[in-house]
Amino acid sequence: MSSHPDPFRDIDAQPDPLRIVEALETRGGARPQQRLRRRFLRFVPVAPGDAVLEVGCGTGVVVRDLAAMVGARGRVVGVDRSRATVKAARLLTREHPRRSRMTLQVAAGERLSFREGRFDVALAITVMLHVADPGVVVKEMIRVVRRGGRVGLQDQDFGTVVVPHPDRQLTARILDGVVAHVYAEPHSGRRLPGLLREAGLDDVRVLTDVYQDTKLEPYTKNFLERRAEHAVRFGIVDAPTAQRWLDGFTELVERGAFIFTVNYYGAVGVKP
Ligand SMILES: C[S@@+](CC[C@H](N)C(=O)[O-])C[C@H]1O[C@@H](n2cnc3c(N)ncnc32)[C@H](O)[C@@H]1O
Repeated sequence: MSSHPDPFRDIDAQPDPLRIVEALETRGGARPQQRLRRRFLRFVPVAPGDAVLEVGCGTGVVVRDLAAMVGARGRVVGVDRSRATVKAARLLTREHPRRSRMTLQVAAGERLSFREGRFDVALAITVMLHVADPGVVVKEMIRVVRRGGRVGLQDQDFGTVVVPHPDRQLTARILDGVVAHVYAEPHSGRRLPGLLREAGLDDVRVLTDVYQDTKLEPYTKNFLERRAEHAVRFGIVDAPTAQRWLDGFTELVERGAFIFTVNYYGAVGVKP
């Protein structure tokens, strides 16, 4: 098994890659998540006829949206370093009406096999958070985009998670403690505009958006349960404390007082 605590660094090395495949599809199907990513894709913008690359395509959630946007003359290529997710993406796109316009490949964003200037747009959606050296991936994305083409990144930022849990200190200890263990840069979202500017792109624009849940939807529930599980694994709290923390959210839902928000930052730049 991969020694890195972030499972998205190496999905194939996890004990149960299918659990991650399912989690990606649950997240992708959640209404607020659909709205977030589609709003960002319009902001990029992605236009009919575009040739689009998505780096870190996972199970193809974004690829399927992109295929609908580029239409019959466009082209979408999704690459991911995980064999398990690319296999799932192929299955999940099999019946898609635009299947012939999509290509799915196992490849790392740090070393793309495409020639220079091949795409109109290159995107990475909730990927940079998981990459050891985001600058290297961005450089490759810029290389394969034509002059005047767009490079777009979108990431959540774990410094912006808001929940009204009655035990504020425990909440901060678990949320901040876990992300510090798992991610090299938990505040990845807010760093994306700087990343694109440093890489030499022009006209960098930013779209800030918010994921909001007031009902403890499956994606949010899974998110909080994973945080509790990791907090125990990393010795931040003991198991009864983690369970007490989770019970606090159930109580909030029962009282109609639950809310969970996290900011998503999107940044797009143009290749000079
Ligand atoms: C959180 S998922 C996002 C998947 C998809 N973009 C979505 O929004 O549903 C992150 C994906 O990035 C992939 N990934 C991580 N590092 C990568 C790299 N260096 N090159 C290519 N893919 C990578 C992971 O395998 C995983 O499938």
